[in-house]
Amino acid sequence: MSGVGKNNASLEPHNTLKLQSQASTLVELNKHDQLDGVFEYAKDLNLSVVPLGEGSNVVLGEHIEALVLIVNTQGIKVLDTTDNAVYVDVAAGENWHDFVVHCVELGWHGLENLALIPGKVGAAPIQNIGAYGVEIAPLIERIYLAPLPGSELDVDPNLQEVLQRTDDGNLFIAAGDCQFAYRNSIFKKALRDKVLITSVLFKLGTRFKPVLTYPALRDYLSAQANGLQPDQASVSATDVMNAVISIRRTKLPDPAELPNAGSFFKNVVLDDEQFDVFVKRHPHAPYYAQPLAGIDQSIQYKIPAAWLIEQCGFKGIYDGNLGMHNQQALVMVNRAAGRTQGDAVIAFAERIQQTVAEWFGVRLEIEPRCYAC
Ligand code: FAD
Ligand code: EPU
Repeated sequence: MSGVGKNNASLEPHNTLKLQSQASTLVELNKHDQLDGVFEYAKDLNLSVVPLGEGSNVVLGEHIEALVLIVNTQGIKVLDTTDNAVYVDVAAGENWHDFVVHCVELGWHGLENLALIPGKVGAAPIQNIGAYGVEIAPLIERIYLAPLPGSELDVDPNLQEVLQRTDDGNLFIAAGDCQFAYRNSIFKKALRDKVLITSVLFKLGTRFKPVLTYPALRDYLSAQANGLQPDQASVSATDVMNAVISIRRTKLPDPAELPNAGSFFKNVVLDDEQFDVFVKRHPHAPYYAQPLAGIDQSIQYKIPAAWLIEQCGFKGIYDGNLGMHNQQALVMVNRAAGRTQGDAVIAFAERIQQTVAEWFGVRLEIEPRCYAC
């Protein structure tokens, strides 16, 4: 292996909540061809491999007994173009927002509503990132993978049906087999902890069709046009991207200034029957009857978790160094970078979950992946 791992390495620079955490070993993967060497190294040390991008969707405990692999691989390759689409293969270590900007500049459309989401390309399919009326799922064609050491993919017959190989032997999964849903995918289920995403093949449009379904986005663009409703003729992809960037900057704390991991809980999804019970008890609760645009259409009613948390009195409230943000009650923030531990995060989260369950009869699900806490 070129480049040696760092033992007992601090993970504070590698998680946006800036939690105090240490990895048994830390390795930075800069080139794809270092991968076999890294995996051999992990096997020699008898450590599992935990991949990380920018650590913007994780809660890390005090000690992660693993080889933590920071994925930095770079490369954006156009594989094919048709009359109305371009197929682009993007290395897992590319910065997500920079890739979105690149696409808008080159007239590759579909991702503009997902601007300014922190993180790297390789993590984006894990929770099917979504914002402002768009999810990544329908824009993905396939995802290239490398089995993590010890994953034994070949012993699971269900996985055999969805994992495929290219003629030159590269392992991939087609988007249609990824079980994408709201903040969910096969990478959080059968493939959890089993694969490294090495690159993502996107199918992007070359004709711009704006998605203006999200009320806050429509209102923003309409206000900019003196009250006129925005439509395909009046807005460009750059307008949509810039609007999303502006809205996000007013609502969400910048992790570089106030450490956080974005939404700490998922919004609550209820089916018809559950919604009937909920709305009778809480007739003034906001809700959305439509899912975000995506492959899974089963979502019926989404209750904003931010509203539930705010109603329970947690907005702008701190418990020690952790608080729920005063502009967006769904975002947990840490005002003591490098001095807060994952256990405290989970304890605060449980307090919120318990209060919301008592008041509203629904359970909030933690969104970030928790390791060792
Ligand atoms: P990490 O946090 O490093 O990793 C997340 C998980 O993915 C971990 O389990 C990790 O092991 C796994 N993983 C990472 N890379 C790979 C890989 N190459 N192969 C296999 N597994 C891998 N999310 C949204 O969906 N919508 C939003 O609007 C949004 N806004 C946010 C705003 C802020 C301020 C913040 C801090 C976060 C926000 N997020 C949002 C969450 C987060 O940005 C996304 O989930 C993002 O995709 C995480 O990328 P990452 O590189 O930081 O992943
Ligand atoms: N609201 C409150 N109090 C608040 C904030 C919001 O009551 O402090 C209510 C309002 O009714 C508001 C509604 O919640 O209309 C929705 O708020 P917002 O538009 O800010 O979106 P969200 O549902 O809270 C989700 C995603 C975000 C994504 C935005 C935009 C989840 C868990 N979160 O937040 O994703 O950026 O929509 O699409 O689905 C993330 O995952 O980290 C993230 C930031």
